[in-house]
Amino acid sequence: MASEQADKAVLFYESRSFNYDDSWHADFTKRFAAELNIQTGRHVLDLACGTGLLTFVEADIVGPSGHVTGVDVTPGMLRVADFKKKKEAGRYANVDFHQGDILKLQDIEEVKGKQFDVITVASALVLFPDPKAAIEQWARYLKPGGVLAVDSTHPRNLVPGMVLERVARRLDLQVPYNREWSQNEGSLKIVLESAGLEVEKVITIESQAGYGKRQYDLEQWDDFFVENVIVKDVARTFANNDIRRKAQGLYKEEWERLAVNGKVEEIDSVFLGVARKPADGSKHIPCSSSNEVVLEGGCRCGGVRYTSTQQPSNVTFCYCRACQQVSGSGYLPFYHVESKSLNFTHTSTLKTLGLSKFADRFFCTGCGSPIGMKYHFEEEKHVTGLTLGSLFFDTFKGNMPKVVQHIFLGEKAPWITVPDDGAKRLQTFAYAERMGLE
Ligand SMILES: C[S@@+](CC[C@H](N)C(=O)[O-])C[C@H]1O[C@@H](n2cnc3c(N)ncnc32)[C@H](O)[C@@H]1O
Repeated sequence: MASEQADKAVLFYESRSFNYDDSWHADFTKRFAAELNIQTGRHVLDLACGTGLLTFVEADIVGPSGHVTGVDVTPGMLRVADFKKKKEAGRYANVDFHQGDILKLQDIEEVKGKQFDVITVASALVLFPDPKAAIEQWARYLKPGGVLAVDSTHPRNLVPGMVLERVARRLDLQVPYNREWSQNEGSLKIVLESAGLEVEKVITIESQAGYGKRQYDLEQWDDFFVENVIVKDVARTFANNDIRRKAQGLYKEEWERLAVNGKVEEIDSVFLGVARKPADGSKHIPCSSSNEVVLEGGCRCGGVRYTSTQQPSNVTFCYCRACQQVSGSGYLPFYHVESKSLNFTHTSTLKTLGLSKFADRFFCTGCGSPIGMKYHFEEEKHVTGLTLGSLFFDTFKGNMPKVVQHIFLGEKAPWITVPDDGAKRLQTFAYAERMGLE
């Protein structure tokens, strides 16, 4: 059975298949391939291959001694790909296309158990709800030393779609993409590294569709609302008039929020990341290349001080009862760093307390400041959450990551209003919701 994401992708792409190639994608896939150093004779897996635009470019590069396997879930896209292969009468004997959900590669006979020199995923990463989990699974199909290349959108790329995503989140509706995390080259780097790959480069490719930058008027929100919510909503996210009415007001609000001097700017760029699986087949453990301290933090009285050599990622606002009680407020905001980049330099008043089964919390017993938490559950074991209040902003060299989620809203205090910032909203937290834990 395909994932829910895959079912939505089919709805979205089936009707676009027949004229998909009449778009900027053909040119972009050539630019994408030119950034990879694919050698003759290599075996390539092109995931979410669509109509094979990138697959055929790669097949020309690897030549007859190499091979390219294309996988996509949308039958119409693959029909176009197969038709193009047939039309070239024998030129592409080194290419196969297979239908399947790339979140379930183990179910695809022709891929199962294999490992490839190169894996490419063009114009598709933002279609997946959890980019790190997706890349982690794809990386299992890389040979040791093999390379994965993937792109993600600039936050101002296709602005009307981004506004739609924010509106859907505010209405607790699922949209068939997730691009809010992709803010800059650094966000793609973090995702690739957290999936266990060694990043070779992340670059910005400008003018993906050929216009570079353009400006929209404030009043144009209505045209985009009609186009995206009424005409193109093939996945029926905005399924009835009541939802559409609510969405209309929010769409205007989010659109206006992006405007500067009455104009909303669109920037036609993407980030392209190229990352390698370590040569011994293990997961790469990221660490700061220079071991330079990029931030410092601590408590009010000075009994607890810490430093980190890694940039912070993923700000989460937690509204759980424990966070309310230990902060004496409505929530605690946390940022995250890899635990091994964190160094507690003053610990005289540092106390660790287990207040729930999911994590241990750090406090200062001198002044009572909450400092952070270390998680017990498997997928977060390697990171430490630190309270934003404990960060010394004057020591911080970097860009503050965005708020990505509001968690434990099921326990939220009634007097708190959750900000409309487009971040995910969860009743508990992602791992617990996936595992069905209380
Ligand atoms: C924008 S197209 C990109 C196609 C191609 N990579 C290119 O650059 O032209 C996105 C593709 O992702 C495919 N896709 C989305 N989710 C998928 C999934 N779970 N498994 C396989 N393919 C998927 C869609 O069917 C669609 O063909």
